[in-house]
Amino acid sequence: MSRLFAGAGFQVPESPLVTEVADLEVMTDLAALRRWRTALHDPVHFVPTMGNLHAGHLALVDRAACNGAIVLVSIFVNPAQFSPGEDFERYPRTLERDCRMLSEHGCNHVWAPGVELMYPLGQQQRFRIQPPSGLSSGLCGVHRPGHFEGVCDAVMRLFWQVRPDRAVFGEKDFQQLLIIRKLVEDYAVPIGIDAVPIVREADGLAMSSRNQYLDLHQRRRAPGFYRTLADFAERARHADPGTFQSLERSALERLEKLEFHPEYVEFRDAETLGPATGRNDRLFAAVRLGTTRLIDNVALTRQNVAKLEN
Ligand code: PAJ
Repeated sequence: MSRLFAGAGFQVPESPLVTEVADLEVMTDLAALRRWRTALHDPVHFVPTMGNLHAGHLALVDRAACNGAIVLVSIFVNPAQFSPGEDFERYPRTLERDCRMLSEHGCNHVWAPGVELMYPLGQQQRFRIQPPSGLSSGLCGVHRPGHFEGVCDAVMRLFWQVRPDRAVFGEKDFQQLLIIRKLVEDYAVPIGIDAVPIVREADGLAMSSRNQYLDLHQRRRAPGFYRTLADFAERARHADPGTFQSLERSALERLEKLEFHPEYVEFRDAETLGPATGRNDRLFAAVRLGTTRLIDNVALTRQNVAKLEN
């Protein structure tokens, strides 16, 4: 095991600042990243993550690997997007396992900055990017104040560090995806943004690093979340948007019966996150199952209905 992976979290090695694991280069220093980046002529496609990778992340890596591009994955558990009392401390940090998965998946370059490198002025003193309230104050923004500000800040820093040609995000975090799209549009950032549909377990549960917090009993109940959303999205497909509010209430009740603690269940326009119009809507929801927070969303178009195993 390399020094980089010693201990519970990962430590910045003394030297060199590039460590090899299973043919994969882990860069932890800006100078090493810049040397690597400057020497490249092929396009660089970038997948920002917080690590503890699963098949959902790997789908993003596959998308990034299109057209002979060089793929760089970042792994950084970003403290700025966690509120006090959330799971920042216990968020699973599995860098060595992540690197092996990526290497087996044909991705050979990882950017793993430390907190001091990401926030050289300190987390309190850092510059901040405030996303527009229309996109960030509803849905998850209500329950995670400051979350999207922290996401935008980290993603913008990563963009400046990596200077990719394209970056790939998952529809699992649909609100985040829309905010990042607006961020690059508003600041004229010359990076194309690609989106990948949600990757689910066979029983429909959206893959997430947080699923491993669930105990066996909770894990068995968890697919009821997606099933409820899929069911109500299906009802909404044939309904007038005027009835969506009562569908939202019924979906909340169903989730409560299934012993989830719903934070919100809302139909919204999939481009603006404004009120649903009946044209291009999605059903967005977040619930708690025990102490674990789960989010999911379902489009009101047919191709998004995943086949479920019974
Ligand atoms: P993280 O939760 O690690 O997710 C990294 C990327 O993987 C995000 O774009 C997310 O939407 C995507 N993703 C996660 N689970 C997925 C699934 N089941 N199907 C499809 N895509 C999935 O999102 C973050 O990290 C952070 O906020 C980050 C953007 C890295 C900024 O810190």
